[in-house]
Amino acid sequence: MISDRKNDHVRLAAEQHRPDRGNDFDDVTFIHHALAGIDQEDVSLTTQFAGIEWGTPLYINAMTGGSAKTGDINRDLAIAARETGIPVASGSMSAYLKDPSTAPTFKVLRDENPAGFIMANVNANATVEQARQAVELLAADALQIHLNAVQEIVMPEGDRSFAAWGPRIEEIVEGVGVPVFVKEVGFGLSRDTVLTLRKAGVTVADVGGRGGTNFARIENGRRVAGDYAYVDDWGQSTPACLLDASDVGLPLFASGGVRHPLDVVRALALGASAVGVAGTFLKTVLEGGPDALITQISAWLDQIKSIMTVLGAATPAGLSHCEVRICGELREFCADRGIDVRRFARPFPTVP
Ligand code: FNR
Repeated sequence: MISDRKNDHVRLAAEQHRPDRGNDFDDVTFIHHALAGIDQEDVSLTTQFAGIEWGTPLYINAMTGGSAKTGDINRDLAIAARETGIPVASGSMSAYLKDPSTAPTFKVLRDENPAGFIMANVNANATVEQARQAVELLAADALQIHLNAVQEIVMPEGDRSFAAWGPRIEEIVEGVGVPVFVKEVGFGLSRDTVLTLRKAGVTVADVGGRGGTNFARIENGRRVAGDYAYVDDWGQSTPACLLDASDVGLPLFASGGVRHPLDVVRALALGASAVGVAGTFLKTVLEGGPDALITQISAWLDQIKSIMTVLGAATPAGLSHCEVRICGELREFCADRGIDVRRFARPFPTVP
């Protein structure tokens, strides 16, 4: 039953949530310049990519819908998105495409947030017609297509056929009528994959890297034998993906393992146009409802602005001029992939 699976995902994601756990974002530090600061009133959070403008570089990433309980969660997420003005994505709408009676558990995202930027969400097996139906139900402004092959193989009832995904994405891009954002669910998009997505005409690649919610672990937790524990560390982290694909020329979003406002700023400095959060916001909304999430998002937006003020970045795009050190395992990844980390530590060498 899809609805049982959706409820399992919420329960297991909340149980495994560990905001204090280290991840590759900790390997990204800013060179501090004591005189770089600007006035916070001159800082704007507006971000632009592919001709689209968002008032904030932060969004609520795809999670739920498809069962009564997850419909309630979608309502709370929609209210928080509306009150804070941040974009929000629906969870996978496969449940709706298979069983239209689940429509209200998704449509609540639009009912509660009539003027917001909303992303519908389908898997890469969806036909153009199904993608259109998903977009239509939410009057969605964009469509997310999720790539989750690792999750599928660990999922007892998961897919085992992935060869059609590339051509399907091209067809959807061609026929769906809204911008297409392709995302991973926590295993990351490689440079090669982002290049392929650019050639397919997608609008944004959301790198969806390792470091936060772990769907290998979640699906393994749903297996009686729990015999897939060895894939727990599969994939590339979110900062690694941003560095890997920084020269591809396709707008990138960052998601996966974003724990606090500094991670958001780090991701923007590594070239992301916007940053998505799922597990951290899910935990908040489950514990405190929409009011707690509104408080958290408002605090995050304010703190993102404060950090930008110290760094002297008047816009999210301006953060890419900051000097950033890459250390630890992330530095090793860069060495293996031929990425010159000095380019980020001293982007504009000046002559005294
Ligand atoms: C997800 N995620 C997800 N992604 C997607 O594209 N379609 C989906 O249906 C879901 N479902 C889902 C359920 C739950 C409970 C969670 C927590 C997450 C994945 C999500 O969008 C994101 O890519 C990952 O969770 C990694 O980000 P975080 O959680 O580390 O911020």
